[in-house]
Amino acid sequence: MIVQIQEAQADVVARARRVMTPNYKPQPVVFVQGEGPYLYDRDQKRYLDFAGGIAVCCLGHGHPVLAGAIADQAGKLLHVSNLYFNQNQIDLAEKLVELSFADRVFFCNSGAEANEAALKLARRYMRLVRKENRWKFVCAQHSFHGRTWAAISATGQPHYHEGFEPLVPGFTHVPYADLAAVEAAIDDETCAVFVEPVQGEGGVIAPEPAYLAGLRALCDRHGILLILDEVQTGVGRTGTWFAYEHSGITPDILTLAKGLAGGVPIGAMLCTEAVSQGFAPGAHASTFGGNPLACRAALTVLKVIEQEGLLSHVQRVGEHLRAALTDLSARVPGLTGARGRGLLAGLGVDPKIIDRAAVIERCRQLGLLITQAGPDALRMTPPYIVSRHQVDEAVAILERALTGKGAA
Ligand SMILES: Cc1ncc(COP(=O)(O)O)c(C=O)c1O
Repeated sequence: MIVQIQEAQADVVARARRVMTPNYKPQPVVFVQGEGPYLYDRDQKRYLDFAGGIAVCCLGHGHPVLAGAIADQAGKLLHVSNLYFNQNQIDLAEKLVELSFADRVFFCNSGAEANEAALKLARRYMRLVRKENRWKFVCAQHSFHGRTWAAISATGQPHYHEGFEPLVPGFTHVPYADLAAVEAAIDDETCAVFVEPVQGEGGVIAPEPAYLAGLRALCDRHGILLILDEVQTGVGRTGTWFAYEHSGITPDILTLAKGLAGGVPIGAMLCTEAVSQGFAPGAHASTFGGNPLACRAALTVLKVIEQEGLLSHVQRVGEHLRAALTDLSARVPGLTGARGRGLLAGLGVDPKIIDRAAVIERCRQLGLLITQAGPDALRMTPPYIVSRHQVDEAVAILERALTGKGAA
């Protein structure tokens, strides 16, 4: 059932423009309800949601098991702080340890915070455990790691730095998927290499699996850490629990957020036993981090992914989406091919031929939500529960938005 709200959409937009700080530029639509891969606006218009809350809503909207677990937990216990033990947090940490390379877990509330924790842990481990003056990070150009000061300093896109200088020192940016450039940037003060296994915001760039394997070997040779930002790729987005699995290696530290609790804010930093010793009581903390509600939601998401066999579904439907985008690319001038892995999908566009913002706007008018990434890609990050039929529906709408023709 769709919630009826009388106030006109335009009035809400005007009110938001008066009171919100001007750092967002939302599209003029207000969603009031969701069901599976669909969202509904105030006028009860239906949209196929291939933005997925920017790769967050992995179970779609209103999943009954997730909604039930959140409601149940809200009635029992929302928050206690990390001054006390919390059963859901321990259960979730055990589950993440079981599914991954990690021995230990730290919880926070977002991707940027998870990265902040990872960078702080890496430096502290080198200084206090290894007793080495290693404090620098080698990062990638076009990377995105979030908006805290360390996270923007690690982010290899200068426009995110504008006006915030001076940045946190110690971050070098080298071309992505270039092992020789990473090696050349490592010196005696390097602490870690910090990259995304697939660059999301940078343009949906999926390197060959050999890249991560090469980074692992490089880090081992130089005695430094490999930190993977899986905020966007983790928790099944690429068809495996974690994207590093495609390369047959494991990192020393890994960060998660986005899909982990299906839309309830949470972040997590996973690490090995050895590296975890860089933290001691009081070294790092978060008031809300890993609270009973967020952890219950995350535990439920992981259980549903397992019970509904969603990892293999993401692989299959992701292949189907990429094949459809490849096919579309062959038909429409200005498209430069499909990118990505699993349900982190990109479609390359030549910005001289195609106006991406206009395509996204036309898609929205036609009932499809997509996003853009990097300088030259449209991005699709639908929920894992999306069907092949819904993928076909989305690609048909996209074709119509691009050409004015097509089946939608
Ligand atoms: C790879 C990656 N890291 C970090 C972040 C930042 O996450 P958050 O916005 O939750 O702080 C993002 C967000 O898009 C991301 O894609």
